[in-house]
Amino acid sequence: MPARTHMGSPYMQFAKLRSGAKCNLATSGVMSYPLAELPVQIKELEINGPTIYGYAPLQERLARYNGVPAECVVAAAGTSMANHLAMAATFEPGDQVLIEFPTYELIVSTARYLGAEVRFFQRRFEGGFRVDAAEVERQMTPRTRLIILTNLHNPSGAFIDEATMKEVGDIAKGNGARVLVDEVYLESFYGQRPSSAFHLGDQFVVTSSLTKAFGLSGLRCGWVLASPELAERMWRINDLYGATPAHPAELLSVIALDHLDKVAARAQHLLEKNRRAMYSFLDSRNDLDFFRPERGTTVFPKLRSGDVEAFVRLLREKYETSVVPGSYFEMPQHFRVGIGGDPDVTREGLVRLGLALDEYATKG
Ligand SMILES: Cc1ncc(COP(=O)(O)O)c(C=O)c1O
Repeated sequence: MPARTHMGSPYMQFAKLRSGAKCNLATSGVMSYPLAELPVQIKELEINGPTIYGYAPLQERLARYNGVPAECVVAAAGTSMANHLAMAATFEPGDQVLIEFPTYELIVSTARYLGAEVRFFQRRFEGGFRVDAAEVERQMTPRTRLIILTNLHNPSGAFIDEATMKEVGDIAKGNGARVLVDEVYLESFYGQRPSSAFHLGDQFVVTSSLTKAFGLSGLRCGWVLASPELAERMWRINDLYGATPAHPAELLSVIALDHLDKVAARAQHLLEKNRRAMYSFLDSRNDLDFFRPERGTTVFPKLRSGDVEAFVRLLREKYETSVVPGSYFEMPQHFRVGIGGDPDVTREGLVRLGLALDEYATKG
């Protein structure tokens, strides 16, 4: 047996250990939703519960929320575990997996940890990070078992429309492969969420959670949508990782899903406010190029000239503000800015970003 070569995630180490700052613009999620604002009473919670393969009331809520039968839902500890289960169930070590580039680093690390030979297809900045189905097809080989996309795209926030998703689905189907679509940021459409790729055919496997768009990360309420036979395989694999979920989190997730409109209204308001501030900041700069997503929680500007790592260091050390260096997406001329934070902190962070850019431009 070959030794495992990928045993961790450089991005996750950055996010956990080096992204903290007075003005944190590095996180990709909406700020925490306070427990006090959920209509929950202590007597509604319990330590242990009747969870076997899922907790029936939560399975029922997730199925209804996604418009799918409950046997197509695998509850998972966040989109992270959902992605892990979806990959573990759809390819064998040594198989080829075709992943968008750039993408969320954990997707690549997890695929490699599971023994995939990873290939990439480009989503180009110059093309608005669009998915080009012809480019996907060019990178497919007879050994490709899985294509992986994020919709909305992390880091850029670009949306993949249904026609393009269908084209990718047809390419996969024609090669006996599947398509995994991480839709965690599609949740930021809230009441206008477009139909999930899951409904486009049984070659699609979809993952998501209440983490990013709703500020409910601590509940770890994630899920996979898959055909019943594949879902069954994932439940069995999950027994090897987290056989029994935290029941209080399942109960709180049921309550959150029952009041999701209220949670969504706060998040939507906050994102709209921050997006306006972000675009007026970006429009005021002539040292940045950027793609302008309509939705989502992040933007991914490009510094026209200079060294992003050095700029990010100055920004954090002198201006106490953090962003994610583009090197974590293997696009070192970019940096990612999150707009899901407290609006006052976001506004202040953007002021500091501007001051740091000005200082960097004069000192180099
Ligand atoms: C595309 C993508 N998928 C999954 C995750 C992790 O989500 P969760 O917190 O639900 O595990 C992230 C976090 O940044 C992400 O960007």
